[in-house]
Amino acid sequence: MPENLSSKASSDFSAPSSTVGSNNVETQGKRALRELELSVVIPTFSEVDNVEELIRRVDSALVGVVWEVIFVDDDSPDGTADLVHSIARTDLRIRCLRRIGRRGLSSACIEGMLGSSAPYVAVLDADLQHDERLLRKMLQMMRDDDLEVVIGSRYLKGGSFGELADSRVFISKLATKVGRLVLRADLSDPMSGFFMIRRDAIYQTVRQLSGVGFKILLDFFASSPKPLRFNELPYDFRQRFKGESKLDAAAAWDYLLMLLDKLLGHVLPVRFISFSIVGGFGIFVHFLALTIAFQIMNLDFTLSQAAATVIAMTSNFFLNNLLTYRDMKLHGFGMLRGWVSFCMACSVGALANVGIAAFLFDHGFIWYLSAMVGVIIGAVWNYAVTSLFTWKRTTTAKTGN
Ligand code: GDD
Ligand code: MN
Repeated sequence: MPENLSSKASSDFSAPSSTVGSNNVETQGKRALRELELSVVIPTFSEVDNVEELIRRVDSALVGVVWEVIFVDDDSPDGTADLVHSIARTDLRIRCLRRIGRRGLSSACIEGMLGSSAPYVAVLDADLQHDERLLRKMLQMMRDDDLEVVIGSRYLKGGSFGELADSRVFISKLATKVGRLVLRADLSDPMSGFFMIRRDAIYQTVRQLSGVGFKILLDFFASSPKPLRFNELPYDFRQRFKGESKLDAAAAWDYLLMLLDKLLGHVLPVRFISFSIVGGFGIFVHFLALTIAFQIMNLDFTLSQAAATVIAMTSNFFLNNLLTYRDMKLHGFGMLRGWVSFCMACSVGALANVGIAAFLFDHGFIWYLSAMVGVIIGAVWNYAVTSLFTWKRTTTAKTGN
């Protein structure tokens, strides 16, 4: 029960709700007895059965430290945020930031970090796979060795992947190798989601972060304007306590996009890159559908071409919803409305493409150049209009691009 958790509270920041008001009056104008030192940011999506055990363990791992936990929940259907809020009402060390219509582990971590006032911020998974007992040692290293980041590593001697399935270990090792393309530091475990970072290092880097996908630590190291002073501590990656992993096949796409953003992001927005790759695949779908309709089913050419166009647009819509706009995916009726607006926007884009290409060709441009300009203008139109009307993106901020 939440009440039990708060009654076990061990730091100055915990107070039963009845004393909160009077406490504020008594300490008016004074500082808290001891200053907040550590915020633990915990991203959650459907982790309701892990929350209480996690708080209990963090509490006992951090006796004597003034800490807070910031849960960042993406409106989990299992009521994770409601549970955290009910605990937070009586335990002031606990907070919950609830995001609506959003998804993404990295962007959740960034927003949690920005909500922290502490000099040190740790990131911890909610499923107890990370060893929270390391937090105290991490904090001590930060203070004593003047570090900017301390990372929990599964590769160092003394650490391990525990009972993680061989296939997952293989993928993690492969991703680590590929990640070195953008990484500018010699980390043993850049895929780790378990680390502590100093507040000023966050603010130095936050505007450069990609914020896409799962790999927030790698993002920090690839985006920091200057090398970060870091050290690592080994730990054994544990089994998930309750619930299921959120890492699916589409997370690999996010990872690729994050790497592309670090390599090309200053030239092209990462969503546009994803949109263009999907569009390129759409050409393949179009020709496949056309061949089946016209060559194999012997349908009329105009009818086959029209059908192939609708099929390609539909497949582009679903792929973009799944990959390009994974963090703001449309569901249910919104998906139908989105599909209609996507097809309308892309039809105009196709007309613009053909019109501009024909105009250029008529004015003496070489055929492939005319076609290329038409395709690029059509793609930019489709991207801009669907981002506004289909996925209703209202921000152009870099994070979550
Ligand atoms: N807010 C939010 N939004 N949280 C999320 C989302 C999301 O879209 N997706 C996942 N999370 C939360 C989960 O609820 C969990 O607390 C944490 O992020 C990690 O997600 P898992 O589903 O458990 O991922 P994993 O075990 O496959 O991988 C994790 O562990 C690796 C090893 O440290 C990730 O944290 C990796 O980044 C990490 O490398
Ligand atoms: Mn996990």
